[in-house]
Amino acid sequence: MKNPIFQNSYIIGVISAVLIFGSLVECRVPSSSNKIDYTAINCRKHSAILTDFGAVGDGKTLNTKAFNSAITKLSQYANDGGATLIVPPGKWLTGSFNLTSHFTLFLQKDAVILASQNEADWPQLPVLPSYGRGRDAPAGRYSSLIFGTHLTDVIITGNNGTIDGQGSVWWEKFKKGEMKLTRPYMIELMYSDQIQISNLNLINSPYWFVHPIYSSNIIVNGLTIRAPLDVPNTDGVNPDSCTNVRIEDNYIESGDDCIAIKSGWDQYGIKFGKPSEHIIIRRVTCISPKSAMVAIGSEMSGGVQDVRIEDLTAINTESAVRIKSAVGRGGFVKDIFVKGLNLNTMKYVFWMTGSYGDHPDSKFDPKALPEINGINFRDVTAKNATIAGKLEGISNDPFTGICISNATIEMFVKKDSDIEMDAKKVKLPWNCTDVAGVTSNVVPQPCALLPDKKVDCPFPTDKLAIENVQFKTCSI
Ligand SMILES: *[C@@H]1O[C@H](CO)[C@@H](O)[C@H](O)[C@H]1NC(C)=O
Ligand SMILES: *[C@@H]1O[C@H](CO)[C@@H](O)[C@H](O)[C@H]1NC(C)=O
Ligand SMILES: *[C@@H]1O[C@H](CO)[C@@H](O)[C@H](O)[C@H]1NC(C)=O
Ligand SMILES: *[C@@H]1O[C@H](CO)[C@@H](O)[C@H](O)[C@H]1NC(C)=O
Ligand SMILES: *[C@@H]1O[C@H](CO)[C@@H](O)[C@H](O)[C@H]1NC(C)=O
Repeated sequence: MKNPIFQNSYIIGVISAVLIFGSLVECRVPSSSNKIDYTAINCRKHSAILTDFGAVGDGKTLNTKAFNSAITKLSQYANDGGATLIVPPGKWLTGSFNLTSHFTLFLQKDAVILASQNEADWPQLPVLPSYGRGRDAPAGRYSSLIFGTHLTDVIITGNNGTIDGQGSVWWEKFKKGEMKLTRPYMIELMYSDQIQISNLNLINSPYWFVHPIYSSNIIVNGLTIRAPLDVPNTDGVNPDSCTNVRIEDNYIESGDDCIAIKSGWDQYGIKFGKPSEHIIIRRVTCISPKSAMVAIGSEMSGGVQDVRIEDLTAINTESAVRIKSAVGRGGFVKDIFVKGLNLNTMKYVFWMTGSYGDHPDSKFDPKALPEINGINFRDVTAKNATIAGKLEGISNDPFTGICISNATIEMFVKKDSDIEMDAKKVKLPWNCTDVAGVTSNVVPQPCALLPDKKVDCPFPTDKLAIENVQFKTCSI
């Protein structure tokens, strides 16, 4: 016999072989029922489990050190096939931690990452250069729960594991005006390329949920995002000065915009000058009674162009695809294409605002006017709407190239019991100022500034590069 174990004694040999083989089966070769397949832009050669780094999933032990040491350890595999950090079932309390390149954070089903509610667990970051100050407070901002900068190829996914921002303490402090720094985002990636965030439940972010900024080649899909409908600034997905972005198959309910496309704020955004462009958003369902399904702006000073929005459903939102800007913003919003909106219970179906205000400071340039041009909508069905269109450009700076075709809006009908309501409260279906464009086959009849021209508003037939990115099947 070649195996030395079998040389001394047959019996000891058999027992040892069983033990060794048994332990091999247990630890090294997961049975096929333990294998989890998932889809990702890249699979990884190496992996580790959070508990290997001393983490305790009791919902009380702080695991920031475990996350940091796990990711530091796994970062050594960046140039050797990359690595996955597996977050197993349990409640993993943590402060902010940083990701690394060629890395996947994988949350198993029943894994819950809980964000610490103690400000001491949140390092401070300098203000974003395209904003010039923190959004809540001028001084600066807290790092996001999951943060990364200057990364390549980073994936945050799972089979519906949960990230719980435990935002209530932050929302209360904000409402009381007690924030000295800006509240943390749930996930922020800066100056990064090749990002995937998918197949997770994200709940109760202190501030925006998903914030890629100055980044490219981003896929956000299969997310269920939930925050209470009355809390401030819990936007779902906010691409900010990003290019090549694909946001699809997500369900979002929030107190603020489900999706907001941004590119910096007034003079800071103009100077930084990085647009958000080549973005596709499709098959998203949104509930947001106080905000938009998709907002463009109000921070759009670096410009927003080539945005394609397709097959979205809104269930009780304030508006659908809303453009927000102001004197002092500069920048542009152009080549926006929207096709296939299914809208139910909505205050404004078409809404553009040129007087949003909300400046970082008093040093904005009153001559910096935004250019809003080429905003196309087609195939829109709305039920129970209060106002069909409120399109308000800027005097001496009209919003142009607006096109709306094949839109049917059923207005909110007052019940018999409401009939004696004050006649002045009955809103006009359309109110347009400082805008120019055309419509076709739109009911109720639009305002005179958008005459009927028998057109089909365009929607691009080419594909964005990010649409051609295919998922691979990976397993852990
Ligand atoms: C995370 O990255 C930021 C920005 O580079 C840095 O300030 C911070 O110290 C990092 N945190 C850790 C735990 O390494
Ligand atoms: C994850 O949740 C979504 C939405 O609830 C569901 O459609 C999907 O089947 C779930 N996936 C897994 C792997 O549980
Ligand atoms: C008009 O839009 C509806 C969806 O709102 C769509 O089903 C229909 O095919 C469109 N009609 C044309 C002629 O494109
Ligand atoms: C219609 O919208 C109003 C608010 O404008 C809301 O109170 C009502 O419940 C909605 N009706 C339906 C059937 O959704
Ligand atoms: C129409 O919109 C303008 C600009 O927002 C506003 O000043 C005006 O009061 C509105 N008119 C009606 C009838 O609501």
